[in-house]
Amino acid sequence: MNSESSSQSVQSDLGVAAERLPRHIAVIMDGNGRWAQRQGLPRVEGHRRGVTSVRRTTEECARLGIQQLTLYCLSSENWKRPQYELDFLMHLLEQYMIEERSTIMANNIQVRIIGRRDGIPEQVQHEMDRTIELSAANTGTTLCLAINYGGRGEMVDAVRKMATAAAAGTLEPAKITEDAIAAHLYTAGMPDPDLLIRTAGEMRISNFLLWQISYAELWVTQQCWPEFCEETLHQAIRDFAGRDRRFGGLKVDSAEGAT
Ligand code: IPE
Ligand code: IPE
Ligand code: MG
Repeated sequence: MNSESSSQSVQSDLGVAAERLPRHIAVIMDGNGRWAQRQGLPRVEGHRRGVTSVRRTTEECARLGIQQLTLYCLSSENWKRPQYELDFLMHLLEQYMIEERSTIMANNIQVRIIGRRDGIPEQVQHEMDRTIELSAANTGTTLCLAINYGGRGEMVDAVRKMATAAAAGTLEPAKITEDAIAAHLYTAGMPDPDLLIRTAGEMRISNFLLWQISYAELWVTQQCWPEFCEETLHQAIRDFAGRDRRFGGLKVDSAEGAT
């Protein structure tokens, strides 16, 4: 599909002009455990079902031509959970990395991973690296997976790198700008999220992309992550397209009337 017909199809099935689409969507995929418990299932079954939502959301973002989708898979605070749940999550991650490769390649998706590697079993890291390498030349949607990710930890790592460079004399303090800091984060080179979606109703950020979401539009649904589907994504995008993003300025018509 060429870009013109692709943008027309987005307009017709979403009712949103291609230029009003978010460039980068980030998602706090929450509520797996609650969903499972409501079905009378063990919490981990919610994680298993959550993989289906990941696949559907990723494929839909690729179809819509969204530049980047970032998914919060495991926070640096999630290590507080019971060992059984953590083992299950690691197994699921490994399985995902292997089984989703064909979908990733078929949809021209480039996989990237942000977060710290410590604590992730070697075998899981190996499969992560294989998927990253295999998809590196893909030119469609970037699927960025935040695994053992924490926004504060990311800032600590960035400050350490900059302080090391400053101590070595290769970074002048006067050159520490917002752009320089962004270039030292795990997300260097990625656009900031335009739309941040959280499922399962909590009104908090939970240490996700603290620097990058400074002007993201927030959208929270009561639906749990295993219930999240294309229609939920469309609703979020439609709401986003109707928002007035001022970035600290004034609405265009108010600015025109200002003296
Ligand atoms: C989100 O679902 C997935 C992870 C944090 C790994 P939860 O496991 O947090 O589900 P709830 O919030 O307890 O329902
Ligand atoms: C946020 O969910 C982390 C992920 C979705 C991976 P949590 O369930 O860990 O967040 P809190 O504990 O409710 O803030
Ligand atoms: Mg949760």
